[in-house]
Amino acid sequence: MQTPETSTVTTSRYTTSHTLFERSKKALAGGISSPVRLLFPERLFLREALGPRVWDVDGNEYIDYALAWGVLILGHCHPRLVEALRRQAERPQIYGAQHELEYEAAERVQRLVPCAERVAFTSSGTEAVQLALRLARAFTGRNLILKFEGHFHGWVDSVLLSHHNTSEELGPVEEPRAALCSKGQVPNASENVITAQWNDLLSVQRVFAKHGSSIAAVIAEPVLVNSGAIMPEPGLLEALRRLTQDYGSLLIFDEIITGFRIALGGAQSFFGITPDLATFGKAIGGGVALSSVVGRKEIMEQIAGGGVAFGGSYNGNPVSLAVAMATLDELARDGGAGLRQANALGSQLMEGLRSAAKDTGIPLLITGFGTAFSMHFTTRPQPRSYRDTLHDDKVALATFLRLALEEGLLLLPDGRIYVSPVHTERELHETLRAARTVFQRMR
Ligand SMILES: Cc1ncc(COP(=O)(O)O)c(C=O)c1O
Repeated sequence: MQTPETSTVTTSRYTTSHTLFERSKKALAGGISSPVRLLFPERLFLREALGPRVWDVDGNEYIDYALAWGVLILGHCHPRLVEALRRQAERPQIYGAQHELEYEAAERVQRLVPCAERVAFTSSGTEAVQLALRLARAFTGRNLILKFEGHFHGWVDSVLLSHHNTSEELGPVEEPRAALCSKGQVPNASENVITAQWNDLLSVQRVFAKHGSSIAAVIAEPVLVNSGAIMPEPGLLEALRRLTQDYGSLLIFDEIITGFRIALGGAQSFFGITPDLATFGKAIGGGVALSSVVGRKEIMEQIAGGGVAFGGSYNGNPVSLAVAMATLDELARDGGAGLRQANALGSQLMEGLRSAAKDTGIPLLITGFGTAFSMHFTTRPQPRSYRDTLHDDKVALATFLRLALEEGLLLLPDGRIYVSPVHTERELHETLRAARTVFQRMR
């Protein structure tokens, strides 16, 4: 397992951030609330944010392409979300009993998401995935889950497997093993999971030929955003749909990133493949803690009287749902025009970055879609699966990220870029100008 390394601290441009990190370390375990944040270059502490921009505690301004790891689908402090939050702040924060916002929010999700015959609200993506897997196991009476290498489905024992492991840990491509990712993880978690390679249908067929009648579900990020933003090749999702149906297994799309981002109805509406269950998080709340499991009625109804245990003190809390409703209404405005424009602007940015790199002689591949894509510094062919990304030049990426920060661009530490409807032509031009400077400096 590759663990977050502490990034090198460089210049005085970030002095206050560095000082605050030293203080933070004395109170907060590891000085951080989520260890992947240690991967950002410098010990950046952010203080202000508005729309597509953020400011750090030293007063440096950045165009924000990290967007809280994809949560902020409408950027920072969107007026409609702030208003919803303000209104709800003067009302009860939580009832712990039924209330009207629950079905109102669920109805909005139903209208947008093809597979959402029923909706259940949870608080984090990790929890949503847990519920989806439990529903699938209960419904099929089977235990095994097929997941793809490099796909991330949360940090709990049962799914934190074969994520960012080394190829040695993952085993031979033809016979991979579900590799643990953390010390302290219960070792037999891996016994319930079988892995396959993204964009390699043969590797999936091999697993089904051997274990098909024991597989409860196949779970996948419909676009592998968490390991290099790798699109499914034509026919892959269709084949997963067919294969799971043939063997009586369920298909689960983990849409925690693609949901309300690649299209209003998520990847399932974008690619026209309807899974049995899907999980949503991040964008659904626009900035508040909210996630959701949606799916076929008979599978979902197991949670009330069907014997599938499910709970959570904060499930369906009014604050999260009020902001989620404002988010979904804003995204759905004019038939989803804002999201379409954001994906178009992001595609322009992908193209602009490609040509800036080419002009300056930097070997760069960009994969993904307009509002979520990744940079790969490599001379190899386009990556098709997680293992291909292991050959990317990590030193070049780290240099790019550090220089990009100096030029006012905040990206995710793995070279991922999120674009939202609040990014405009102005951000596009500023970014391409800055990226050209960075590529020249890299050379
Ligand atoms: C595809 C996917 N599934 C699940 C999760 C876990 O979500 P959370 O961090 O809200 O627990 C994430 C988080 O990044 C994710 O990207």
